[in-house]
Amino acid sequence: MNAFDLSPLRPRLPSPLEPVEDERFARRGLTLMLKRDDLIHPDLPGNKWRKLALNLEAANGRPVLTFGGAYSNHLRATAAAGRLLGFPTIGVVRGDELAGRPLNPSLARCAADGMRLEFVDRATYRAKGEPATLAALLERAPAETYVVPEGGSNALAVRGCVELGRELAGAADVVAVACGTGGTLAGLAAGLAPGPGAPPAEGGGRALGIPVLKGGFLGTEVRALQEAAFGGARGEWALDERFHCGGYARTGPVLEAFAQDFEARHGLAIERLYVAKMLHGLVTLAEEGAFPAGTRLAAVVTGAPEPTDRP
Ligand SMILES: Cc1ncc(COP(=O)(O)O)c(C=O)c1O
Repeated sequence: MNAFDLSPLRPRLPSPLEPVEDERFARRGLTLMLKRDDLIHPDLPGNKWRKLALNLEAANGRPVLTFGGAYSNHLRATAAAGRLLGFPTIGVVRGDELAGRPLNPSLARCAADGMRLEFVDRATYRAKGEPATLAALLERAPAETYVVPEGGSNALAVRGCVELGRELAGAADVVAVACGTGGTLAGLAAGLAPGPGAPPAEGGGRALGIPVLKGGFLGTEVRALQEAAFGGARGEWALDERFHCGGYARTGPVLEAFAQDFEARHGLAIERLYVAKMLHGLVTLAEEGAFPAGTRLAAVVTGAPEPTDRP
């Protein structure tokens, strides 16, 4: 039994599932629901909570070391969890040129939450998965430090995201989610699949991943993450790679106009780097006639906008 208690964080689970009226879906006989994972916790919104929860239980109060870029949501969430639950955190940040400069607002929040920041050059950062590089980083960390990979995606994170699929199973036929590392999609698809005892005719929902990075590597990653988490493939999932808008953190006038319009229609602030791309993909697919009438669609709102990623 693990004694480490996450309940002081008081997550809002299951997260709300809100039907929205949107004529771009209604006119094709589709229904749209927003899975409001952004409301799970103010400091660990969306997939941050789902991916960190089992890792923090496994760390059991030991120091946690993890990795991220200068604007990493994952670093901020880990730092906040450390402050709220009282364990030390170390953030390995990509880019040693940042070391001598004033911290940007995102890293300043990490530092204010007590995270020790270690800036490393890009070559070291790229090699962080190699045993020698990791050992060198851990030499400067306290003994027994628990390591969470970049973006928080490991087998425990994928298992934590299974619950997202379970919360939606039976309520949605297709669930769209934005993908970075693919960990959230890997768990979501598994949770949507009918349980071992379910009659085959009932079927399960399928997950639709919208990658926000360019590259076409994500399918392999999702398969590897499912293998690590479950020992094999789980659930039904597909990717549509057309909506990354040029790559990570790239946006543009079309995406911006889409997001502002969605915000005006539904009174909801939209995070641009992941959630806007996913919604843009889902609306485009609906308009292309990709879903038969009667399909119940859910869009996972995996995060909330930060002042730093708003124009
Ligand atoms: C808001 C938001 N949505 C989606 C994702 C993608 O998650 P994953 O890396 O598990 O694919 C991230 C990154 O963690 C994120 O910050």
